[in-house]
Amino acid sequence: RTFKRQMMCRRDIDGLSVPFLAIYESLIPPEEEKLKQKQLLGLLEKLVCKEWPMARLYLYGSCANSFGVSKSDIDVCLAIQEVDMDKSKIIMKLAGILQSDSLQNVQALTRARVPIVKLMDPATGISCDICINNLLAVVNTKLLRDYANIDSRLRQLAFIIKHWAKSRGVNETYHGTLSSYAYVLMCIHFLQQRRPAILPCLQGMDATYSVTVDNVDCAFFDQVEKLGHFGRHNKESIAHLVWGFFFYWAYCHDYANSVISVRTGSTISKRDKDWTRRVGNDRHLICIEDPFEISHDLGRVVDKRSIKVLREEFERAADIMQYDPNPCVKLFEPY
Ligand code: GTP
Ligand code: MG
Repeated sequence: RTFKRQMMCRRDIDGLSVPFLAIYESLIPPEEEKLKQKQLLGLLEKLVCKEWPMARLYLYGSCANSFGVSKSDIDVCLAIQEVDMDKSKIIMKLAGILQSDSLQNVQALTRARVPIVKLMDPATGISCDICINNLLAVVNTKLLRDYANIDSRLRQLAFIIKHWAKSRGVNETYHGTLSSYAYVLMCIHFLQQRRPAILPCLQGMDATYSVTVDNVDCAFFDQVEKLGHFGRHNKESIAHLVWGFFFYWAYCHDYANSVISVRTGSTISKRDKDWTRRVGNDRHLICIEDPFEISHDLGRVVDKRSIKVLREEFERAADIMQYDPNPCVKLFEPY
């Protein structure tokens, strides 16, 4: 299974881009959805600032990183300096503040790994999770959005991969498969590896943006409009890239020894990170380095059973892309 199969891409692959692009287009959230999200954020700001005038709300996750499909929930981060209050107290108080006539199902989840307030806005139908001071997520959201603005193929590929992962049931961290965030990092890594490269490594360039959050220095080149069209020398079609993505994860990635690292634009060795054995619950069976919290492996949720499921799904998808006359149907078949 670990030997690298030399598979040639099918000849008619580029012709398959039309149906893939149609799927991508169908997933893009309409403008009015964006407006509704802004409207809800405005309402939340109004309620929060009455109690905490210095607090700020930031959108993060898929509603702000440009990888959000239509009808997604929104992720909000409350930035607040309440030195003498722990996170669960802030969560309890926040839930109290948001108990207003205009919001429904306001719940404080203080015992979750990341404590949040959950709520629903009946005016727009949008659900929302609010966490406290998770500013690294706000910064990695910006990094992902900046990558998306370099080459349109990243957003297309990531939408298609997220749609595939949801259809196949492999986008569920509580069942040991990968988060959407992990899949987007896998897409960025993959496009950094193409020759010629489709994406640069923004953290490897002279920084034009730099912040320190929770003692982590986050610095990268963010003036992406100055890159011209970085990937122009690579003419690969979206269908070719979907094929290549699955082929890479099915037959080329070295699961035993390699960590994918968007931060370095490359792979690094598991040994260098000391990710070669199980530590606590982190098994490191597929290793995806977080771009800023570099001791954080986004593959840590994957266990012995789910790594098998994941690799079989990558192989299934690669084989469909290689041989199926109409891959768009079979690829997204519910599991
Ligand atoms: P969908 O909600 O599935 O559309 O995708 P999403 O982009 O919102 O991703 P997800 O819900 O997986 O994560 C939300 C955000 O949390 C990510 O965009 C990251 O900014 C941040 N995040 C940071 N660390 C982690 C992590 O370990 N796991 C996850 N899931 N998210 C993280
Ligand atoms: Mg989300």
